[in-house]
Amino acid sequence: MRIAKIDMSVNSSVRLRTGNEMPVMGLGTWLLSRDTAGTVAYAFGLGYPMIDTSSDYRTQPGIGAALRMSGAARDRIYISTKVEETDDAYKRTRFDLKELGLDFADLMLIHRPPLAGAGVRLWRGLIRARNEGLARDIGVSNYPPELIERLIDATGETPAVNQIEWSPFGHSEKMRRFCDKLGIIIQAYSPLTRATRLDDERLVRIAQKYGKSPAQILIRWNIELGTVPIPKANQRRHLEENIDVFDFEIDRSDLQQLNSLNEHYSSLGFLPYI
Ligand SMILES: NC(=O)c1ccc[n+]([C@@H]2O[C@H](COP(=O)([O-])OP(=O)(O)OC[C@H]3O[C@@H](n4cnc5c(N)ncnc54)[C@H](OP(=O)(O)O)[C@@H]3O)[C@@H](O)[C@H]2O)c1
Repeated sequence: MRIAKIDMSVNSSVRLRTGNEMPVMGLGTWLLSRDTAGTVAYAFGLGYPMIDTSSDYRTQPGIGAALRMSGAARDRIYISTKVEETDDAYKRTRFDLKELGLDFADLMLIHRPPLAGAGVRLWRGLIRARNEGLARDIGVSNYPPELIERLIDATGETPAVNQIEWSPFGHSEKMRRFCDKLGIIIQAYSPLTRATRLDDERLVRIAQKYGKSPAQILIRWNIELGTVPIPKANQRRHLEENIDVFDFEIDRSDLQQLNSLNEHYSSLGFLPYI
């Protein structure tokens, strides 16, 4: 079990294989289209250092507006976004940046592997975008180890990140070991199980012990293990709660208990790994 440093704050970061830094947590924006600009601006005010989006979430224009409204320095906010499996990845990157009103993204991901093959053409498009300065780092999402290996074999380029569903209820030691070996950081999506398992009584018991909510325990579990959660929240009280995870530590035995909740659960119905 890998345990990250405990003297962390919301401004702490993990180091990617390229040497660039990525914040230890961020805000997801899938289904956050009701008032994206207002919600994201509020999150910036709370200190959220990273926003995850995708052209198909329809939140990029709102995120761009929030960035402009908040006047946040570009180097203080980390933006990850995605290209779709049917896209021309290079062209889509340019489109995403236009919607966001940015010159570059910190991280561009392939949203999911195409139906056939590993997506080598997509990957080459992202490599080109990165080489031209449109993205600092590039990575994948929903990729199993075999398909990551195929991208590397075809191009010599290892993804910096694999964004996958990841929580105590659904994770994989095999995937973690694979990513550790290649220096790939796991960005944890649906880290709150889309709120479907927050009432699990074993989780609730641990939360009560620390005087924290189940959601805060799920977020902190990721941070302590060096995986990077991007919980989504529309409601302000959730946004506030989810960033308030830097004043406690989960002890080793509780981390182990949380690990033992694993049942390869997916709130979306599939995990691209076991
Ligand atoms: N790459 C991919 O294929 C992929 C797939 C899925 C997700 N993602 C990314 O990961 C992000 C997060 O995943 P997700 O949106 O699927 O699910 P999630 O973050 O696990 O859960 C979001 C749900 O939890 C609720 N919630 C948030 N904070 C809470 C709290 N403190 N207490 C109780 N409930 C709370 C939210 O409610 P309210 O909104 O009402 O506050 C919302 O219903 C996405 O937004 C997206 O950026 C990527």
